[in-house]
Amino acid sequence: MFASTLLCLASAALASAHTVITYPGWRGNNLITNETFPYGMQWMYPCGGMSVTQNRTYWPIGGGAIAFQPGWFQGHATAFLYVNMGFGTDGPDGGPANMSLPIVPPFQILGPSKNPYPGTMCLPQVPLPAGAQVKVGDNATIQVVELAVHGAALFSCVDITFVENNDPRLAEVNATNCFNSNDIGFADIYTMVVRASGQGNTTSDAETRFWYFRRNSGRSFTQFLGWLPVVLGGLWVFL
Ligand SMILES: *[C@@H]1O[C@H](CO)[C@@H](O)[C@H](O)[C@H]1NC(C)=O
Ligand SMILES: *[C@@H]1O[C@H](CO)[C@@H](O)[C@H](O)[C@H]1NC(C)=O
Ligand SMILES: *[C@@H]1O[C@H](CO)[C@@H](O)[C@H](O)[C@H]1NC(C)=O
Ligand SMILES: *[C@@H]1O[C@H](CO)[C@@H](O)[C@H](O)[C@H]1NC(C)=O
Ligand SMILES: *[C@@H]1O[C@H](CO)[C@@H](O)[C@H](O)[C@H]1NC(C)=O
Ligand SMILES: *[C@@H]1O[C@H](CO)[C@@H](O)[C@H](O)[C@H]1NC(C)=O
Repeated sequence: MFASTLLCLASAALASAHTVITYPGWRGNNLITNETFPYGMQWMYPCGGMSVTQNRTYWPIGGGAIAFQPGWFQGHATAFLYVNMGFGTDGPDGGPANMSLPIVPPFQILGPSKNPYPGTMCLPQVPLPAGAQVKVGDNATIQVVELAVHGAALFSCVDITFVENNDPRLAEVNATNCFNSNDIGFADIYTMVVRASGQGNTTSDAETRFWYFRRNSGRSFTQFLGWLPVVLGGLWVFL
């Protein structure tokens, strides 16, 4: 039955793409594009157009597994992934007040192609946010954000209730529902500081290279000569 559910999701997804949280589940099918969501539901902050649910799923109070299929998205072989947690039900729509607490460092996924791909990623033991104070029976929401190459993001959530780590109501985590497909690679994301905050007004060589050469690497000046008639033509208007 699990396989047929996946197959069903896969074919639903092929029409319009996106992220599917496979463990511990998702709020529901938001792989929908219609008149209300002409660009597709999953682009809507914070949970891809889905309201908070009543069918919460159980998740261990000591942290647990999260698995998802990130590749149902045409045109994007790579993406940045963020996983956040929001606590409680005091926020808009009966969900958390915010989704601002990351529970894994952001990472990049490297898909096999720009076409939709079916692979699954498993994060087997995701901890709660540092300093989180929760007790058994508290509610929270896990949000998976997939940042596409053009800077817009896809959102998908699952509403959870914390239970003891060995609670029998927890769905077993195993190689059927939490696994890493060979066809999806992943990479660390890091920054290289070119100019630190508050470093005076002068523009360093490194910055100049950053703002100009890096963006134009591989182009020569002669390529810009092609624009000369356009620029001169534009100036003509002002004469
Ligand atoms: C909650 O219910 C919706 C609608 O039936 C379903 O699509 C979704 O998978 C359910 N989520 C969980 C975590 O059980
Ligand atoms: C679009 O789909 C959403 C989710 O199923 C639904 O709530 C909404 O009413 C639909 N809009 C139209 C115009 O059918
Ligand atoms: C958690 O949510 C469920 C329904 O989804 C609700 O019955 C329960 O009272 C909530 N628990 C707390 C501590 O708010
Ligand atoms: C988000 O909510 C938590 C409580 O759930 C709170 O501690 C935190 O300060 C909030 N963060 C922001 C940025 O509002
Ligand atoms: C994995 O766990 C699920 C329940 O979460 C169960 O339906 C499935 O049979 C298990 N698979 C294996 C190989 O044990
Ligand atoms: C930066 O420029 C501002 C405005 O010209 C000037 O007031 C300030 O003293 C300058 N700061 C440094 C560190 O040179």
